[in-house]
Amino acid sequence: MIWRGYILALSFCCCCLLLLAAPAPAPAPITHPSEVSALLAVKKQLVDPKNNLRNWDKGDPCTSNWTGILCFYNLGKDGYLHVQELQLLNMNLSGTLAPELGQLSHLKILDFMWNELTGSIPKEIGHISTLRLLLLNGNKLYGSLPDELGYLSNLIRLQLDQNNISGQIPKTFANMSCVRHLHLNNNSLAGQIPPELSQIFTLLHLLLDNNNLSGYLPPEFSNLPDLRILQLDNNDFSGSVIPASYRNFSRLVKLSLRNCGLQGAVPDLSRIPSLTYLDLSRNHLAGPIPENKLSENMTTIDLSDNQLKGSIPGSFSDLPSLQTLSLKNNFLTGPVPTNIWQNMSFSTSARLKLDLRNNSFSSIQGHLNPPVNVTLRLEGNPVCKNANLLNVNLFCGSEPGEDKMLTNFNDSIANCPIQACPTDNFYEYVPASPLPCFCAAPLRIGYRLKSPSFSYFPPYIQPLEVYLTSSLKLSRYQLSIDTYSWEKGPRLRMYLKLFPSINVNHSSTFNVSEVQRIRHLYTSWTFPGSALFGPYELLNFTLLGPYADMKFENENQGISKGILVAVAVGGVACAVAMSVIITILITRRYTGNRHAMSRKCLYTKVSMRLGGVKYFTFKEMALATDNFNSSNQVGQGGYGKVYKGTLPDKTVVAIKRAEEGSLQGQKEFFTEIKLLSRLHHRNLVSLVGYCDEEGEQMLVYEFLPNGTLRDWLSAKSKRSLNFGMRLRIALGSAKGILYLHTEAHPPLQPWKTRELCQIMCPQLCGEHQATLIQNTF
Ligand SMILES: *[C@@H]1O[C@H](CO)[C@@H](O)[C@H](O)[C@H]1NC(C)=O
Ligand SMILES: *[C@@H]1O[C@H](CO)[C@@H](O)[C@H](O)[C@H]1NC(C)=O
Ligand SMILES: *[C@@H]1O[C@H](CO)[C@@H](O)[C@H](O)[C@H]1NC(C)=O
Ligand SMILES: *[C@@H]1O[C@H](CO)[C@@H](O)[C@H](O)[C@H]1NC(C)=O
Ligand SMILES: *[C@@H]1O[C@H](CO)[C@@H](O)[C@H](O)[C@H]1NC(C)=O
Ligand SMILES: *[C@@H]1O[C@H](CO)[C@@H](O)[C@H](O)[C@H]1NC(C)=O
Ligand SMILES: *[C@@H]1O[C@H](CO)[C@@H](O)[C@H](O)[C@H]1NC(C)=O
Ligand SMILES: *[C@@H]1O[C@H](CO)[C@@H](O)[C@H](O)[C@H]1NC(C)=O
Ligand SMILES: *[C@@H]1O[C@H](CO)[C@@H](O)[C@H](O)[C@H]1NC(C)=O
Ligand SMILES: *[C@@H]1O[C@H](CO)[C@@H](O)[C@H](O)[C@H]1NC(C)=O
Ligand SMILES: *[C@@H]1O[C@H](CO)[C@@H](O)[C@H](O)[C@H]1NC(C)=O
Ligand SMILES: *[C@@H]1O[C@H](CO)[C@@H](O)[C@H](O)[C@H]1NC(C)=O
Repeated sequence: MIWRGYILALSFCCCCLLLLAAPAPAPAPITHPSEVSALLAVKKQLVDPKNNLRNWDKGDPCTSNWTGILCFYNLGKDGYLHVQELQLLNMNLSGTLAPELGQLSHLKILDFMWNELTGSIPKEIGHISTLRLLLLNGNKLYGSLPDELGYLSNLIRLQLDQNNISGQIPKTFANMSCVRHLHLNNNSLAGQIPPELSQIFTLLHLLLDNNNLSGYLPPEFSNLPDLRILQLDNNDFSGSVIPASYRNFSRLVKLSLRNCGLQGAVPDLSRIPSLTYLDLSRNHLAGPIPENKLSENMTTIDLSDNQLKGSIPGSFSDLPSLQTLSLKNNFLTGPVPTNIWQNMSFSTSARLKLDLRNNSFSSIQGHLNPPVNVTLRLEGNPVCKNANLLNVNLFCGSEPGEDKMLTNFNDSIANCPIQACPTDNFYEYVPASPLPCFCAAPLRIGYRLKSPSFSYFPPYIQPLEVYLTSSLKLSRYQLSIDTYSWEKGPRLRMYLKLFPSINVNHSSTFNVSEVQRIRHLYTSWTFPGSALFGPYELLNFTLLGPYADMKFENENQGISKGILVAVAVGGVACAVAMSVIITILITRRYTGNRHAMSRKCLYTKVSMRLGGVKYFTFKEMALATDNFNSSNQVGQGGYGKVYKGTLPDKTVVAIKRAEEGSLQGQKEFFTEIKLLSRLHHRNLVSLVGYCDEEGEQMLVYEFLPNGTLRDWLSAKSKRSLNFGMRLRIALGSAKGILYLHTEAHPPLQPWKTRELCQIMCPQLCGEHQATLIQNTF
């Protein structure tokens, strides 16, 4: 199959990458002097009680392993190395942020989460035009937001939540045209939300809850084509109403406007197809609850503590995923409908909580015998005084407490000998291990869902496990969700344990590169987006026990002997592999790198057409693949799935379908299609066409029949090439890749190459090669 070919080829490509990555032997590259002095100035203003930054004066930041500094392999045109990531989360740092941060002109990630920083955000940060992630949440920063942050036109994630930032949200933020996540919750922001934010077409999650915002809710927000979560709880919009346009949201999943001082009626939100979570509680909403049926995916409806009248809409009895319906403290009348739970299936550990307390319900409609997984609360209603009603007293008293913790105790480890696993708290038996009594040291990660779209976790534990392990490229048994608890927000805090794979010589610990890989996936927010789970917070990634002294190598070390071995193994086929990797690199670039990162996200709603390659409609694609039937699926990557399809003229094609969360800006998508259509080479899989419709991005390739590439490779390798020749081929190809990194428009970033290898070929790179690649870029 095509993928086998790719994989084979990639194993060779890896070696080429390694070669390429090796810095030139002559003068060892160093960090740009202005960045070195900027870092020293930054350190000077920080208070570092744990002395985490003690090595920030020895040698060179990029080449001497300075804590938290990542440069990758990025020799600029100026011949210097450049700092690309500053990862200083959870280090108990206090002090202030130095304006010199603005001199880190190639920075992509600035991460000071969960420290104790004070002072204001330096406006100079707004000049780092390369910045993609600005993460300062969980500090004690104050002062106002600098207008200059709006100049960060490549920013995709702005997390400034849980500080004490005051003042208004600057209008200039509308210029952050790539931002997908805007998290400013839990600060002291005041004034009107700028309606201009509705110009950020890329916006996915807008979290402004727990501030002191006032004024009105911008009606224009309903035009945001991708907005999934709008959370504005605990602000004060007294005197205003929920705009009528909000019934027009196209992709909204969660709307949370709790305790906002809102008046007027509850809008009819039945036309929002994906709505799952609705919280309008603790406002001054009046009038009846709209009758029309909400999305069938509704998990949570909270309209409590308002002044609503009328009866419970019949359509609430037809919401199969409902977990919470809270209508308490309103003026609702009529009968209590007992058919609400009748059409629900409680097969998947579902639960329904109905809170109807303190209303004017006077009777029961039907039989009051809910199944065990339904809790119903009726106290404070006239119906409770009706002694003639059988059973009713059961639901009129006070109830036992909340569901809270989950202890993942598995029978399979109950019988394991206690002595065999060190009892030092660092090692434990892996609960779900296929190997009985496998004892290992987990990585422990404090993790919190900031705005989940459900209110009862058990039915979603398994989906979350699948989501996390597939995002981390781990097997299911390697993850255990240890404990969880709901916190105010509501947020869902949990402790994750990740266990090493049993396949690696049954090693009971992760190796350095694996820890580094996992940590980087978390800290660079490369998980695909999920509206259901919402954004996550990384609370801690503390390395304990066997991991405590782990030193992460900076990722621009020199060539090592392992590389030479890899060259000897793979040299011969590098030329072929190169062309394949170029294809994949480029296809990966548009089908979707799950970071929305390197995308230019120029957004246009007009569909463009390109000559040379064929345009397919979504319908044609669905037809070719039998509606994307899983039996036609031939591959899967982080970007989405690959299907084998047959076009009406009987041409067999491979269709790559980008997953939601892997989609990119249209303009870039087209740039890459153009580039791809120009690359012709006999060993390259050629592009037949593309589809860009209904929010889908797909690429259509000629289908390589089983074995083609492999055959070609083995035929080639039979010719005897000496080592020197192989090396030359490899180097020649490396030049090709260098070209892509430096000259091509737009250039491919080296970190993408690295990411590609990790994601596309972990198994073939093998542990050792993966390590090398990891350390080389
Ligand atoms: C960086 O860390 C690696 C791994 O611990 C070590 O081998 C290397 O010598 C260090 N480099 C410097 C310059 O300290
Ligand atoms: C963190 O720093 C504060 C002072 O800035 C100190 O009081 C506290 O003990 C430190 N915590 C740890 C765990 O070191
Ligand atoms: C936040 O800042 C305000 C002034 O802007 C101050 O009055 C308040 O005490 C601060 N809150 C905290 C928790 O630091
Ligand atoms: C965006 O930036 C331009 C200058 O770059 C400025 O003129 C304009 O006012 C900004 N837009 C907003 C909404 O602030
Ligand atoms: C956010 O603010 C609210 C209200 O002040 C508070 O209840 C909640 O705990 C805060 N959340 C966090 C995570 O700080
Ligand atoms: C919130 O804003 C109002 C004005 O809109 C102001 O009077 C009040 O002091 C602010 N509260 C806080 C806690 O900043
Ligand atoms: C909602 O969208 C429809 C068209 O899709 C439009 O006619 C209507 O005016 C919009 N409603 C509001 C309140 O914006
Ligand atoms: C409802 O949820 C299911 C499963 O999560 C999803 O496949 C489906 O697309 C959702 N429906 C809508 C209308 O969003
Ligand atoms: C339950 O489902 C059936 C069939 O879908 C439907 O006819 C009936 O109205 C539903 N009952 C309720 C209470 O919604
Ligand atoms: C109720 O939920 C539990 C798990 O929370 C589940 O095991 C049980 O089967 C459910 N009961 C019914 C009757 O569906
Ligand atoms: C119901 O109303 C009573 C009396 O007004 C009040 O004390 C009680 O807290 C209310 N219950 C809830 C759940 O709000
Ligand atoms: C990390 O977070 C988890 C989950 O919140 C918490 O239980 C644990 O104590 C934290 N560990 C450290 C070292 O902060």
